[in-house]
Amino acid sequence: MNDLDTLVESARQRFATAHTPAELENAKAQFVGKSGRLTELMKGMAQLSPEDKRTRGAAINAAKQAVEAALAQRRQALADAELEQHLKAEALDVTLPGRQHGRGGLHPVTLTMERIEGIFGSMGFDVADGPEIETDWFSFTSLNNPPNHPARSMQDTFYIDGTSADGLPLNLRPHTSPMQVRYAHAHIRKYGNGFDPRSGQLYGGPMPDIRVIAPGRTYRVDSDATHSPMFHQCEGLWLGENVSFKDLKVVFTAFCKTFFENDDLVLRFRPSFFPFTEPSAEIDIQFPSGPLAGRWLEVSGSGQVHPNVVRNMGLDPECYIGFAFGMGPDRLTMLRYGVNDLRLFFDGDIRFLSQFQ
Ligand code: PHE
Repeated sequence: MNDLDTLVESARQRFATAHTPAELENAKAQFVGKSGRLTELMKGMAQLSPEDKRTRGAAINAAKQAVEAALAQRRQALADAELEQHLKAEALDVTLPGRQHGRGGLHPVTLTMERIEGIFGSMGFDVADGPEIETDWFSFTSLNNPPNHPARSMQDTFYIDGTSADGLPLNLRPHTSPMQVRYAHAHIRKYGNGFDPRSGQLYGGPMPDIRVIAPGRTYRVDSDATHSPMFHQCEGLWLGENVSFKDLKVVFTAFCKTFFENDDLVLRFRPSFFPFTEPSAEIDIQFPSGPLAGRWLEVSGSGQVHPNVVRNMGLDPECYIGFAFGMGPDRLTMLRYGVNDLRLFFDGDIRFLSQFQ
């Protein structure tokens, strides 16, 4: 073996001990780099005769090619090993059972909302949605509850800094009742029938009755086992030329019996006060049997829409009359499923929620 064969062999061995591309590059520098051994040999040819230079040069070049071939081979081997490693790490065992993703389901209060919408829908009620950040005018003033009136403190309202585009104070709506006036405005715009409060003129032709429910989130400064700062309400409104308190009783009784699937349910309309209805009543229900039997349970406020509210809707209270109610879907859900702490609905504990699927 001449010195060049030895060099090629030692390069091969040196490369074999490199286990990463970086180590391999270091090893390469020892042989073919600027101050590598082959480069040194080239430099050492200066004093040779032209004849010897030619043979020696050819031999060094052959050795260099052999070293480079060994280097390329090792590079490829390292790359192959890395790929192998990678594939192994990412290996997919197709025989393992899949991870289970439950199908999920609807929240119990959502189930109640859908139930309410279904029942009132079957009685010809539209379903409307409205803003949770409301103006002072829709939340109170339009509902016959003027600024500084003591009835405003019936609801511990969250107020919001800043004002609406038209400069009105804002609040998180404390009830869904603003939807009475909002929906009436939309209804009148749609049917082109209304009352201009400035001229006192009625405009438009005959208008179908306003018959709507408006479920949604509402907010009050209140928090205990039966009150949450965010809770739900569902407003109801039926306004026409000849809608009476009797219709309220018929509609609401039919609703409760259907909702609780109990024809023997008893209802009580207990006199009450709301600025926006006159007369007003709280609606209580009583189950004839079961764990709640014999107790009166309050489920809704209600009453005949106040003439001032009818006027703020843009209608003539001499022509339009009707009823409104505002019930608590959270309460209905608790009663239907026998839940005794409202907060459970909003904690998001999957162990509780999954029971309703
Ligand atoms: N808005 C009332 C409340 O939050 C309920 C209600 C609605 C009463 C409609 C009468 C008519 O307590």
